[in-house]
Amino acid sequence: MNETLNAIFTRSSCRDFDPTPLPREDLAIIAQAGAAAPSGVNAQPWHICVVADADTLAALDAEGLGNMQKAAPEFYARIQSRGGTLFYHAPAIAIVWVCDSYKPGAELLDCGIVTQNMVLAAQSLGLASCICGLANFAFAGERGVALAAKCRAPEGHRFGVSVLLGKANTLAGAHIPDEGKITLL
Ligand SMILES: Cc1cc2nc3c(=O)[nH]c(=O)nc-3n(C[C@H](O)[C@H](O)[C@H](O)COP(=O)(O)O)c2cc1C
Repeated sequence: MNETLNAIFTRSSCRDFDPTPLPREDLAIIAQAGAAAPSGVNAQPWHICVVADADTLAALDAEGLGNMQKAAPEFYARIQSRGGTLFYHAPAIAIVWVCDSYKPGAELLDCGIVTQNMVLAAQSLGLASCICGLANFAFAGERGVALAAKCRAPEGHRFGVSVLLGKANTLAGAHIPDEGKITLL
């Protein structure tokens, strides 16, 4: 199996990170892999911001959990049962801010491809990742605008999705692809 296929088939979501900071070069190449993603008419309707500052990460995690407890108690209960953190102690998060003015619908597809490029880049570097849509809650409350500014959300952009990055303490392992969802004619 070649390296690309190996990265695809061995990747899995990490929910138990070693909080040790990652080298800046690794974070930079992962973000560049995200920005290399294809997009409709090459619009690149995103801005990728990598946050690796421990205080900012802790503030986002706490704010997200607080907002989630009020707005979505069922998600909050699930997170509590998984250890009570949104970010699982990851030392970095890559946030994909998505451009508001882009064609509704298409921008989220483009964001998703950015995300997949980043998780596969992380995998190829021997790092773990977890796509984190729930980070959205960090920007959903009264402090959301200030926190988005702290995470360098450009004007006219909103939270799209994010990727947690770090070394794994433990990993559940890759899920088995469902062959029943494939038809080869
Ligand atoms: C758009 C999207 C959002 C996700 N958000 C979260 C999240 O907020 N927290 C989390 O722990 N996992 C999140 N995940 C990870 C999924 O739960 C995970 O990909 C799925 O269970 C399959 O497991 P695998 O990634 O190990 O193959 C998200 C995945 C996607 C694609």
